[in-house]
Amino acid sequence: MRDTLEEIADEKSKMEAMLNFMTEGVIAIDNLGQIIHMNPAASAMFRISGETTNRPLDELLPPDTYDFAWRQALMLNETVTKEVKVSQQEAEDLILRSHAAPFSTRSNECSGVVIVLLDMTEENKLEEMRRDFVANVSHELRTPLTTVRTYVETLKDGALEEPELAQRFLGVVINETDRMTRLVNDLLYLTRLDSISKREPYFIQDLKEIVRNVADVMSPQFASKEQDFSILLPESEVKIYAAQDKIQQVLINILANANLYTPAKGRITLTLTAREEGNEIVVEDTGIGIPKEAMARLFERFYRVDKARSRERGGNGLGLSIARQIVDSHGGRIHLDSEYGFGTTVRIWFPKPEHFGAEI
Ligand SMILES: Nc1ncnc2c1ncn2[C@@H]1O[C@H](COP(=O)(O)OP(=O)(O)OP(=O)(O)O)[C@@H](O)[C@H]1O
Ligand SMILES: [Mg+2]
Repeated sequence: MRDTLEEIADEKSKMEAMLNFMTEGVIAIDNLGQIIHMNPAASAMFRISGETTNRPLDELLPPDTYDFAWRQALMLNETVTKEVKVSQQEAEDLILRSHAAPFSTRSNECSGVVIVLLDMTEENKLEEMRRDFVANVSHELRTPLTTVRTYVETLKDGALEEPELAQRFLGVVINETDRMTRLVNDLLYLTRLDSISKREPYFIQDLKEIVRNVADVMSPQFASKEQDFSILLPESEVKIYAAQDKIQQVLINILANANLYTPAKGRITLTLTAREEGNEIVVEDTGIGIPKEAMARLFERFYRVDKARSRERGGNGLGLSIARQIVDSHGGRIHLDSEYGFGTTVRIWFPKPEHFGAEI
């Protein structure tokens, strides 16, 4: 008898410990809606403090605010699943998935419902991002497709007979197809960056050499706008532990922006500095700058400050998000400062190879 009692007490404390440490919220109520047990996770979700046992659930969490469908579960004698939104002061809404499962004891003397609450806020956000992303991609592809279709149709309807006009229209068609190709390439690139398993190996690289290569690639673009482009490199060797083409991609994206968003005859400077804590690359331009309210969104996929202006120059709004993704995956940081109307400064910081335990 004593053993049995001890065993029961033991089981009970095990059960309690489990409920107390669960991240899911658990509320057990009897068939009249009186709380039998509410675990700490559930109390925290609704910011309830103090005793909850024996209080009516409808009073504590009114059904017009939080519908857990427990009556429905009792009536149907099956589990009912619902999404519940919990508004919070000074914090974003919590999205909970509630499963209300009816139960009854073997002797049928007690029945009730166990409500399990799962925090779905993060999942919901990811799902929303995915939906936005697909919508964005579709939109970005449809616009050039529509343009191409219109121009080809006009050519078919007679514009072909006018050589000068035809040349211009074909030029537009080529530009738009190029833009679609760039978009698809950038998207494939991002997808590859997203899948960690396919990450290419890192090697020790000469960062000065990478900067020089990129400068060579970009020089003609700066020259065509008569911009004054200069690079400042330190005397000492600068090493980076990285995938070389990825670092080049980051610098090209940043310099391409400096080139695009700086008027003709403007000045663009790239400075590389080797510091104790890491290597820093700063790209400064004397361009159009970015308004304050746009700063927070710059690294979002497809975000452009001025869609119309960026489109006519062929931007898809992916350059900075690609740059950030690469810098992040190299353990670095990227930061953008700007004074609207005066210019923009991009700072990129990479940890030193020693940081990865790499042999130099
Ligand atoms: N140096 C800069 N000066 C002014 N605005 C900038 C600068 N760099 C970025 N921006 C703004 O940030 C936006 C996002 O830049 P991002 O490189 O991601 O896209 P994009 O240049 O429009 O297109 P993509 O790089 O995909 O061709 C740009 O549309 C532009 O408005
Ligand atoms: Mg860009």
